Amino acid sequence: MPSSKNLQAKTLQPLTPAYKSIMELAPYQTGKPVEELTREYGVSDVVKLASNENPMGCSPKVTLAITEQLSQLARYPDGNGYYLKQALSDFTDMSIDSITLGNGSNDLLDILARSFVGADDAIVYSQYGFVVYSMLAKMQGATGIEVPAKRFGHDLKAMRQAVLDNANTKIVFIANPNNPTGTLLDSEALREFIASMPASVLVVLDEAYIEYSPESNNRALLDEFDNVVIVRTFSKAYGLAGLRVGYALSSPLVADLLNRIRQPFNVSRIALAAAAAALTDQSFISEVRKINAGQMRWLEKQFDALGLEFIKSYANFIMLKIEGAADINQALLEQGVIVRPLKGYGLEDWLRITVGLAEDNTRLIDTLKSILNAE
Ligand SMILES: Cc1ncc(COP(=O)(O)O)c(C=O)c1O
Repeated sequence: MPSSKNLQAKTLQPLTPAYKSIMELAPYQTGKPVEELTREYGVSDVVKLASNENPMGCSPKVTLAITEQLSQLARYPDGNGYYLKQALSDFTDMSIDSITLGNGSNDLLDILARSFVGADDAIVYSQYGFVVYSMLAKMQGATGIEVPAKRFGHDLKAMRQAVLDNANTKIVFIANPNNPTGTLLDSEALREFIASMPASVLVVLDEAYIEYSPESNNRALLDEFDNVVIVRTFSKAYGLAGLRVGYALSSPLVADLLNRIRQPFNVSRIALAAAAAALTDQSFISEVRKINAGQMRWLEKQFDALGLEFIKSYANFIMLKIEGAADINQALLEQGVIVRPLKGYGLEDWLRITVGLAEDNTRLIDTLKSILNAE
């Protein structure tokens, strides 16, 4: 079988992609699956701290809701996702016609780009912003404008200037908290930034990790500005990454546009039922938040004790600076610990580590110590 590398090197003539920039895209690098590590290195007891998943799993209410759907799998899901939208409407205090459902929040980011961005347009995002934003620009044949980060976070002043300098900007993507750096923006600074945006520029706040930072509540921006979209997911704190379900909150006009682009049954029957059940169990989310915060503090202490630099994180992962990150990553893999190297983000000396359960984090620190001592 030809490798995808060979395919990329070859020209596609006479078949050509819609935009030349599609050939610059590399397939999205996901965290190494546990099964792959077991196959490659023969290690059986694998700890995966690479994809910011919830080590606590999901609420038992979700499991029950899924079981109830099993006899209905021959039937298409509700294409409008009525019950989930109703539950989200109650939860977010947004009208049903302001909500768009997605097959994970990536689906919504994709729908947003396809709805608003053409080949003559530009997308603005931050250096060290979520990698999918630059991919979307390439996918649409548009210009991706990466604004240098400030202390690993968004430099809102510079991003504003980039928008003003590029009149063809259609979307500004801001992940808050940001992946992979874990930084969080001050809400007032964010509001000022949005207030300074031309009404023709959509500001997309990607809140994939917002449940870990509930003190940052930017929902009120939607009442004030029609050009704001908030995108959230059930993949992280809700523990449903395997199901693929997320939602966007926006003005009804934007939601109407997104719904024209959205595929008819983009969220499965099981995902709809699971997400609605997950929302009803906010005590599970409180517990997730509590355990994550405790384990985050523990990891910070361990890194301090090892003399390793890290960036204060407001999510369920933490970025660690370590010399020879690629070699350390390899040594961790060989001992069954999967973390995320960040070379692709231009962060060669850094690893992103998802906060696991106490036993996972202890294993990570013990393995790291043994690797560092052996050097
Ligand atoms: C900032 C950010 N946005 C969006 C996503 C996409 O998540 P999903 O498609 O699983 O909802 C991720 C996943 O890692 C993320 O980190």
